[in-house]
Amino acid sequence: MNSLIELDDIKKIYPTGDTAVYALNGVSLNVGNGEFVAIVGQSGSGKSTLMNILGCLDTPTQGSYYLNGEAVATMDDRRLSEIRNRQIGFIFQGYNLIPGLDAIENVELPLLYRGIPRNQRRQMSKAALERVGLKTRMHHRPAQMSGGQQQRVAIARAIAARPPLILADEPTGNLDSRSGMEILNILRGLHQEGKTVILITHDNDIAASSDRIIRIHDGQIVADTSRETCAAPRGAKNIRAKSESASSFEKNPQDTLAFIGAKLSGVR
Ligand SMILES: Nc1ncnc2c1ncn2[C@@H]1O[C@H](COP(=O)(O)OP(=O)(O)OP(=O)(O)O)[C@@H](O)[C@H]1O
Ligand SMILES: [Mg+2]
Repeated sequence: MNSLIELDDIKKIYPTGDTAVYALNGVSLNVGNGEFVAIVGQSGSGKSTLMNILGCLDTPTQGSYYLNGEAVATMDDRRLSEIRNRQIGFIFQGYNLIPGLDAIENVELPLLYRGIPRNQRRQMSKAALERVGLKTRMHHRPAQMSGGQQQRVAIARAIAARPPLILADEPTGNLDSRSGMEILNILRGLHQEGKTVILITHDNDIAASSDRIIRIHDGQIVADTSRETCAAPRGAKNIRAKSESASSFEKNPQDTLAFIGAKLSGVR
């Protein structure tokens, strides 16, 4: 299996007062195309820090990160934006939906700023919302939906443009077990389509539904266990886009949302 993600000796050190915080302390990790990986650890163990680095939202203090063979440290802002907008679907714990927009408008927003024509983006957004079981909630605003439904809108927004890599930070953290299972089923379905899914959780039961469990403790990987079934499914896609036109990445709301997410998790 070719490596989509290669991290080598990644450290993230925050200088705070007298003592430095080692949020990540020497993380080395390879993830292949089409894998479904859970990253599990207690609160404060470094999961969100790792996700923000994986999602090119934050840079490590030390160590190297190759994404599909390309050194992330050498990417300029435009390339980073391009990767975040086109290659990665972010699902944040806090949903990050825009309150004044209804479900379909929330899902459409990143597509709008990518310059996708109206009809096409409506159709893509509808398909994504149907995919997550929200056909009858397309015109509801976030405040008119349950937590699980809002999380599903956030998933629809992440998958509408069909990015090959999905990063989900505690996507079931705020949900009851039934809604959590629905979210997990959606993630499993995405994996079966060939997407690479990285699921961050503190919950061992949630992690058990993945093919590979990576345990993180105090900024270090302490276990990495695979099941036999973790081979990439047929049709697994390569993250590199076939063609990438440079259209107003600075204004892309998905990028903005990703940035907000990073802000919310306090790493930027
Ligand atoms: N901006 C920052 N400045 C200083 N320390 C930070 C900063 N961001 C994170 N940390 C510290 O880094 C460590 C890892 O934080 P991180 O947010 O990655 O944990 P986590 O595993 O995602 O936790 P949780 O499950 O609570 O979300 C924590 O000890 C945290 O206090
Ligand atoms: Mg976190």
